[in-house]
Amino acid sequence: MVADLADRSFPCRRSPVMAAVVLASSLLAAGCAAPARPASPPQPATATATSEDPVEWLLSRMTLAEKVGQMTQPDLESIQPAEVTELHIGSVLSGGNSDPEAGNSMEAWTDMYDRYQRAALASRLGTPILYGVDAVHGHSNVVGAVVFPHNIGLGATRNPGLVRRIAEVTGKEMRATGVQWTFSPAVSVPRDERWGRTYEGFSEDPALVSELGAAAVLGYQRGDLGHPLAVLATAKHYLGDGGTVPGTSTFGDSRGLDQGDMRLSEDEMRRIHLHPYRAAVDAGVGSVMPSYSSWNGHKMSGDRYLLTSVLKGELGFEGFLISDYNAIQQLHHDFKTAIAKSVNAGMDMAMVPSAYRDYIRLLIELVEEGGVPMSRIDDAVRRILRVKDAMGLLDPDGSYLADRSLQASFGSPEHREVAREAVRQSLVLLKNERGTLPLARNARIHVAGVAADDIGIQSGGWTISWQGQPGDITTGGTTILEGIRAAAGTAGAVTYSEYWTDVRGADAIVVVIGEAPYAEGVGDRMDLSLDTGQVALVRRMADTGIPVVVVLISGRPLLIDDALELSDAFVAAWLPGTEGAGVADVLFGDHRPTGRLSFTWPRSMSQLPLNLGDDRYDPLFPFGYGLRY
Ligand code: BGC
Repeated sequence: MVADLADRSFPCRRSPVMAAVVLASSLLAAGCAAPARPASPPQPATATATSEDPVEWLLSRMTLAEKVGQMTQPDLESIQPAEVTELHIGSVLSGGNSDPEAGNSMEAWTDMYDRYQRAALASRLGTPILYGVDAVHGHSNVVGAVVFPHNIGLGATRNPGLVRRIAEVTGKEMRATGVQWTFSPAVSVPRDERWGRTYEGFSEDPALVSELGAAAVLGYQRGDLGHPLAVLATAKHYLGDGGTVPGTSTFGDSRGLDQGDMRLSEDEMRRIHLHPYRAAVDAGVGSVMPSYSSWNGHKMSGDRYLLTSVLKGELGFEGFLISDYNAIQQLHHDFKTAIAKSVNAGMDMAMVPSAYRDYIRLLIELVEEGGVPMSRIDDAVRRILRVKDAMGLLDPDGSYLADRSLQASFGSPEHREVAREAVRQSLVLLKNERGTLPLARNARIHVAGVAADDIGIQSGGWTISWQGQPGDITTGGTTILEGIRAAAGTAGAVTYSEYWTDVRGADAIVVVIGEAPYAEGVGDRMDLSLDTGQVALVRRMADTGIPVVVVLISGRPLLIDDALELSDAFVAAWLPGTEGAGVADVLFGDHRPTGRLSFTWPRSMSQLPLNLGDDRYDPLFPFGYGLRY
C-alpha cells in the first residue's frame, strides 16, 4: 500500500544509505544487525545525519540543482552516463525505440543499466536512479524476453490471479537486467476501438479494468516495493485517455483519437474513467502517468484540479507523477511557461527525453524567480525519494546494480508456460458450427495466412520496437503454425501456405488473419473493416467445402461479418505474444475455451462508439460473450 511508502522509514533490513554511520547505533538499539556499507559508492559527503529518515536527511542536504535533477528523466538515446552524475539525474528511460548501443540483448541491457546506475552512484549524494521502460506485456523491448498477450487479451481471461502472476514474471525478467520501473499497467478504459491504443486496455468496463489493473500493480510491486523482485508500477494515462473523441487528436492523423479531447461531464468522467485509479492507488501503485489527452479542452498534464486535488488529495495517492514523453511541451509554446504550469499542477517528475538541460535550467530559474514555490519542489522530491527508499534504493546494503543471478530464468520455459496459459485463457470462441472445433489430432490440417507464421504480427506493437513490426523479430517463442505442428505431432499432417493453394485432401483449414502491428497514433483508424485480400482468402478456402476455422489476430474488435459468415468456427485471439502454442492448445481441445469478450463487438462503424450499458445496444456480440466446448 502507498501508506507503506510513508511508513517504512526503517524496517530492520533497510536503512538510509546516507546516514549509515550514525544510523548503525539506532538500528542496533532496535535489535537489528548493523548494515554492511557498500563496497563501492556511494558515501555521504558528511556522515553527521540528524534525522533517522533517509528521505528527510537527503532533502535537507540537497541543493536546488540536485532536487531538480531528481525530478528529471532523460532518454537513454540522448543522455550520457557522465551527465547523469553531473546533473544528479533522478531517472533515465528507454522509450519504445531506445535500446543500448551494444544491441538489444539481455546482456547489453544489463551492462547499460549498470553503467547508468554507477554514474548516478558517483554523483555528490550518490542517489540511485530509477530506470524506466514500457514493459507493457513482458520486458518486451529485450530480445529473448517472454512476451505476454496484450491487455485486451488478459481482459478476456477475467483472471486477476493470472494477471498478477504475469506481472510478477515480467518484473523478474526486468530485474534480471537491472531495470526496476515499468510504465504499466495501462488502466485506460477504451470506449472507442477506432483508438489505436485500445489493446493496451483490459476492457471497456471500468469495474473489470479496476480489478485487473489492481492485480497487475500487486504483481509488479509484489505487494511490497521492498521485495527484491518488485518493480515500480505506473498506472496510466491519467485520466480518460480512452475517452477521447475522433478528430481531436494532437498526434499524427488529424481524424484520430490519440492524445485527443475527452468531452464528458465530471460525473461521467468519474463514473467511467476514475475508478481504476482508485483501485490502483488502493493497491499501492507508486507512480501515475498523466495523459497527453485533454478534458474539455484542458490538457491533463497541466490540470491542477485533477492531478493534485483529485488524485493526490481525494484518492490519497502518495507516490509520484511522471509526465508522458515530451507531454509538458504541449502545455505552452514557451517551455518555461509549460514547465511552471505542469509542476504547479502537481507533476513530480518530467519525462524530457532530450530537453533535460533546458528543463533543469528553466525550473531552477522559475524557483529563484518565485514562479514555482520551493514547497512544491520539496513535495515532488520527497515523493520520488520515498518511493526510492521503499524500494531499498537508499539502503547502504541495497542492491543497486543488476542481480545477474536472475538471468538464468530470463525467457525460461517456466515463464513461457505462464504466457502460454494466458494465451489459452484469452481466446474467445465466437462461432463453432458443424462441430468444427476441437480439431482431431490425427486430422489433415491446412494452415493458411501470413499471420499464421509470424511472431511479429502475433505480438503487435510495443514489441522489440515501439510500433512493433511483422516478420521474424528475432525474439524467441512459437508461432501459431509452429504450435499447431507441435500439437498435431506425428499423428496428423499439417501443411501451410501464406496465400491460396490447392487444399484438396485436407480435413480442416485454419486461416489466420488480422491486423499488422501498430502502436499509439499510427493505429487510429476510422474504418475497421478486414483487409479484402484476407477475406478473399477465407472465401476461397470456404468454397472448397472443407470446414474452415478463422483465427483473428487483432488489437480490437474488427468488422468481421463476411469472414464470420464464411467460417465454420471463429476464434478471436487478440495479440497473443510469443507463445502461439497456446492457440493450438485450445484448437485441439487440450484446454477448453473459456475467454469472454471484455469489449462489445460492433456490427458496423456507424455504431461506434458502442459500449455495455448504452441505451441502444445491438452489437454483433455483446460484452461477456464467449462459446465453450
Ligand atoms: C506513451 C507512454 C509511454 C511513453 C514512454 C509515450 O509516447 O504515451 O505510454 O510510457 O511514451 O515510452
